[in-house]
Amino acid sequence: MKTGKKAVSVIVTLAAVFTFTITGSVLFAEDLPALQGITVKDEHPNGCIDCHVKVDEERDYRLNIEVKKFEKKHPPIDKMVKKVPDDCLKCHKEGSKSGALGEKVHKDHFSNPKENVFVANYNGDCLNCHTLDLNTGVMSFKSGAANW
Ligand code: HEC
Ligand code: HEC
Ligand code: HEC
Repeated sequence: MKTGKKAVSVIVTLAAVFTFTITGSVLFAEDLPALQGITVKDEHPNGCIDCHVKVDEERDYRLNIEVKKFEKKHPPIDKMVKKVPDDCLKCHKEGSKSGALGEKVHKDHFSNPKENVFVANYNGDCLNCHTLDLNTGVMSFKSGAANW
């Protein structure tokens, strides 16, 4: 009789712990920040080219077009850049004369945060451009074939 009661109370306790853990983790998951590829689906697995697209004639955000809109004349990249942003690094490696790409794009996507569309519409998420491999802990950047 005594052991029977004990067994029941153990089961009840286990059930309570189990329910608590399940509810807890569901609530917890809802509270998690949106980190692409970690807590939510990665909407931009190819990085730059998944956002810098031609929407219509007036709104062409492809990077070969964007560089033509810069104040300072930019060399044409249509032929030279086949993989984005990897081939940008032919000229924009850290320490190169044309400037490090990371520094340039970090400024472009985070400056004037109140007006910056990247911050407002894309959560200013580093993981739009970077990947984080949770097995190795290594951070890298995403890339894709040029869309021109
Ligand atoms: C998740 C979407 C997204 C991704 C991914 C992305 N961008 Fe952007 N990018 C934007 C938005 C939005 C802006 C406009 C920011 C603003 O309001 O000034 C922008 C602006 C820029 C600009 C400035 C354009 C200008 O008119 O001066 C450059 C250059 C640029 N991005 C290059 C890149 C490169 C290179 C990559 C990949 C390494 C990249 N972007 C990845 C959304 C994205
Ligand atoms: C052939 C070499 C070359 C390649 C390839 C290249 N760039 Fe450049 N880029 C330059 C030079 C040169 C400048 C001007 C540097 C200066 O005088 O400020 C520049 C400037 C820039 C700037 C700064 C513009 C400003 O107004 O300050 C951005 C942003 C940039 N490049 C993005 C890119 C991206 C993105 C790619 C790839 C899609 C790319 N570049 C590929 C040579 C290159
Ligand atoms: C729009 C795309 C984009 C976003 C957003 C972005 N990065 Fe980068 N980041 C790059 C690119 C491209 C490089 C250059 C890679 C290279 O040179 O090998 C870079 C380089 C870096 C580097 C190494 C070189 C450096 O500049 O110090 C670090 C660290 C880094 N990013 C951290 C971050 C962090 C943290 C965030 C979020 C706050 C972030 N990045 C957001 C595209 C981005």
